Amino acid sequence: MPPEDRIPSKTTEDLALLMRYVQLSDTDLAELNSLADAFDGESESAASAFYEHLLHFPWFRPILEDPHLLDRLQMSQISYIRSLGDAELGDSYISRQARIGRAHENIGLPVHLFVGGYAYLFERLLPGLLKHAEIRDESSGQQQEKTPDPSKFIAILFKRILLDAMLAIEAHVSTREEHLVHQSEQLAAVGELSASIAHEIRNPLAGMRGAMEMLKRGRVAGRRRDEIINEVSEQIERMEGLVRDLLHFARPTAPSPVPLDVQASLAHAVAHTTQLADSTEIEVKIVVAPDATQVLADPVLFDQALLNLTHNAVQAMHSSGGTVQLSSRREGDAIVIEVRDNGPGIPPGALPRIFQPFFTTRHKGSGLGLPIVKKIMRAHGGEIELASCADAGTVVSLRFPRDR
Ligand code: HEM
Repeated sequence: MPPEDRIPSKTTEDLALLMRYVQLSDTDLAELNSLADAFDGESESAASAFYEHLLHFPWFRPILEDPHLLDRLQMSQISYIRSLGDAELGDSYISRQARIGRAHENIGLPVHLFVGGYAYLFERLLPGLLKHAEIRDESSGQQQEKTPDPSKFIAILFKRILLDAMLAIEAHVSTREEHLVHQSEQLAAVGELSASIAHEIRNPLAGMRGAMEMLKRGRVAGRRRDEIINEVSEQIERMEGLVRDLLHFARPTAPSPVPLDVQASLAHAVAHTTQLADSTEIEVKIVVAPDATQVLADPVLFDQALLNLTHNAVQAMHSSGGTVQLSSRREGDAIVIEVRDNGPGIPPGALPRIFQPFFTTRHKGSGLGLPIVKKIMRAHGGEIELASCADAGTVVSLRFPRDR
């Protein structure tokens, strides 16, 4: 059973305990099962009546507007009603009720409104079932045991529906809790991000303000004045870069993957990197494995990911010089693109935070380059890995799941 379909901590032992609690016995289940034909017979009309009933209430109308959805729901409801005649309740019963609970939390239906639906089904099904039992008992004469008296039968159906509701509610509520935790984590992340952005903007602003004050007072002239003006332009460039990276980071990433020629794509990244690498001491190499010449990726996003990585690699070795190698290889079904430098490496203490937005080991970096690449890889269903060794360099591997 997929873990997400399980009601937290619910085992068949828990189920047995819950059945004892609501006093639903195996004999009761056998009683319901003896009316399986009646559940089948009633299911279609009861399901239609259920949704007609729901349409009388303003809470459900917006959800039920879509006619295709109504068709789908009708089928789900028919199958639910039929399942009320099941003779045994086990693992698949637990998972089914969990799925029902989750489905209704996922569509944003409040738990109390969801539960109210069981009352309608109960009342709608009862007369048909009792009638069916009555006819059956009359025609079977003495050979078969009689259906218990109506009040007992009503109690059995009630207990079964109640048990279903209990399990569905538990899954509904725990899914809601998961959603709330997720929301609060997202809010915390937004808070952290805002604080980092504020910090990133405040620093250059303070520098620029200081520079403007000096210029305003007119106490600087000649070369010093030019230096100050250059510093201000640098800070403006830095802020522009930050805004550009922020937009890339924040933009929803919906890739349109196409088969890309790896050699050409890497060469494109290298062309840009060589522009960046004003130090002639940096050599850039491309090594494409014969069985890894194509990758399935969005061209714009692939370019961006590689530019960010090669940019990082070149910047890492800026003063010392060295080699940046872009390569491709096949690993099973996946194509791995690797950007390797032999620069000074990332300090071990920084590695755990390397994919965190705004974390940077460089004076000039926005700290968004790697988070953007990670986001791009996630959107492709791929993975990113980074390994770094002091004085031996850094390797970033991008694993694209398929090359078809
Ligand atoms: C007696 C209470 C209810 C029962 C037993 C029930 C049953 C079900 C079942 C079996 C499913 C399919 C779940 C799955 O396997 O993924 C489902 C989905 C759904 N139900 Fe209910 N339901 C109930 C109440 C309601 C109510 C009150 C509404 C109000 C509009 C509603 C709207 C929906 C919707 C929109 C879906 C998702 C359909 C989809 O996207 O495929 N249900 N329900």
